[in-house]
Amino acid sequence: MLRLGVLVSGGGSNLQAILNGIQEGIIPNTKVVTVISNKPYVYALERAKQQGIDQFYFDPASYPTREAYDQALVDYLNKKEVDLVILAGFMRVLGENFIHSFPNRIMNIHPSLIPSFCGKGYYGLKVHEAVLSYGVKITGATVHFVDTGTDTGPIILQKAVPVLEEDTPEILQKRVMEEAEWKIYPKAIALYAQGKIKIEGRIVKTDF
Ligand code: GRF
Repeated sequence: MLRLGVLVSGGGSNLQAILNGIQEGIIPNTKVVTVISNKPYVYALERAKQQGIDQFYFDPASYPTREAYDQALVDYLNKKEVDLVILAGFMRVLGENFIHSFPNRIMNIHPSLIPSFCGKGYYGLKVHEAVLSYGVKITGATVHFVDTGTDTGPIILQKAVPVLEEDTPEILQKRVMEEAEWKIYPKAIALYAQGKIKIEGRIVKTDF
């Protein structure tokens, strides 16, 4: 049984897509054992609570340093015997110690086709605003392993989504979520659960 720890900061629609994937059997032999937020009262925690899943708000203000906060997360995830850490809209940079505690065992989803519109400053609606002002005709989403850079880790899956002339950042964000994020995140976790992911340097192979 693959044990997931999901880190969130907001609405948790990707968390929901993962829970649905597990329930529908698309993600086999997998369980979400804890959902952790760095923000209080977010709907993602409510979703976990409704399903009887352990959920926890870790308040950054209760820790003296960033390292202490990250260590508290590592300790808790280890206590829950988490195999794979899933960042699902977690809006906080994790330090090197956290990353090194779970080598190639942290996944993230980014709402663009990496390496476009990613890195420092590209988060949430800002990504979609940048896509629209650049005028690209295709965007999408990327699931990748997390390394110590921002959005630089090995890419697992990507899915393209068209940009339409009448799009606003909000409309585009919704399309990218519905047509890409909620599909490829469960799929990437399913591949991992089935042992179908092989990492060679920064190249991820899923078809071997
Ligand atoms: C998603 O767009 C995700 O790609 C980004 O943050 C957003 C989270 O949304 N990293 P939700 O909390 O899963 O609804």
